[in-house]
Amino acid sequence: MNNYLVPSYPNRGINFVTGKGIYLVDDKGRKFLDLGSNYGVNIFGYNHPRILGSLKKQLETLINLHGSFNNNTRTLAAEKLTQICGGKLSQVFFSNSGAEAIEAALKFARLATAKSHFIAMNHGYHGKTLGALSATGGDKYRHFFEPLLWQFSHVPFGDIKAVEKNIRQDTSAIIIEPIQGEGGIKLATKIYFRALQKLCQAKNILLIVDEIQTGLGRTGTFLAGQQFGLTPDILCLGKGLAGGIPIGATLVTETIAQAIPLHIHTTTFGGNPLATAGILATLAEINQNLLQHIRSTGKYFLSALKKIKHPKIIEARGIGLMLGLELTENATWLLKALQEKYIIAIPAGSNIVRFLPPYLISKKEVNKAIKIINRIFSISKH
Ligand SMILES: Cc1ncc(COP(=O)(O)O)c(C=O)c1O
Repeated sequence: MNNYLVPSYPNRGINFVTGKGIYLVDDKGRKFLDLGSNYGVNIFGYNHPRILGSLKKQLETLINLHGSFNNNTRTLAAEKLTQICGGKLSQVFFSNSGAEAIEAALKFARLATAKSHFIAMNHGYHGKTLGALSATGGDKYRHFFEPLLWQFSHVPFGDIKAVEKNIRQDTSAIIIEPIQGEGGIKLATKIYFRALQKLCQAKNILLIVDEIQTGLGRTGTFLAGQQFGLTPDILCLGKGLAGGIPIGATLVTETIAQAIPLHIHTTTFGGNPLATAGILATLAEINQNLLQHIRSTGKYFLSALKKIKHPKIIEARGIGLMLGLELTENATWLLKALQEKYIIAIPAGSNIVRFLPPYLISKKEVNKAIKIINRIFSISKH
């Protein structure tokens, strides 16, 4: 079917028209349990009454306003965001996507340090615009476009010696995800992150933490980096930050903010009142009870995944509601089999099925999903 779109996405063959809670509904009225939340965007599912209410109100008040004018909604969203992220972060640059949040982070690091060598991680994923793609690891998305920008050294995730070895006089910053999402739900140790933080301090290198996927409670704390003792100089957020309205946010320290000259980095839609009303509505929903729910439901989901035994399963892993099931082979067949049973999951790399359910998921729905996954594996040939 020609849908008049550039064919850069795989077509999953379903036409969704609406959603309610953690279910998506297709044009035939069929309900699908959504365990992917649109790659981590719909953290409160679909048509959440309070978030929807705030967005509707803002739609009828003021949708867009250039960053050169003041707007209380935008200011309040920035203030709340810096308060909740804490640490050294005191100023926000708003944009419209995760990749844009990374572009700003890289440019701000360069402006603040006057250096242009960066250390990034193998299998790290930071988006596909040219700057973000330069930080993204691996050949898969890069090979058509090389040479990419500036100078990036990619090192194995979790290997502090490799970071040490690649530090140069002109190293501006290290960019890292606390848990690699697209790279396959890959984890590193607390010891590694502490050493990384110390190294940045000792060598006067900025630490850019990409929490576009892991942030906003996904792992059971507001930022995943809080579990690893990370205090970034630059923090990137996106995805579900604005209640489903496109958003990117780059938070920086006071010192970095002062190094950014007037006019040098702006974007027409950045921090528009609609998106920033979405931020306020989203932040209002995130509290200690919710984070506790994410931790306990995530633990329950992970332990149930770990109990599924099959020769095709290598491992189930993750933190909070950011989970992955690694297979010995390409995982597309499992995604398809789940979809046939009205469950939407998403890939992470070729052989991992990723679960990023909306935070509203309950143990009952986890049980339903686990029952179906078990059934799929029980009839799958070895
Ligand atoms: C960790 C991380 N960084 C950056 C991005 C890029 O965000 P976007 O697709 O909104 O440009 C993503 C998207 O998946 C991501 O997971």
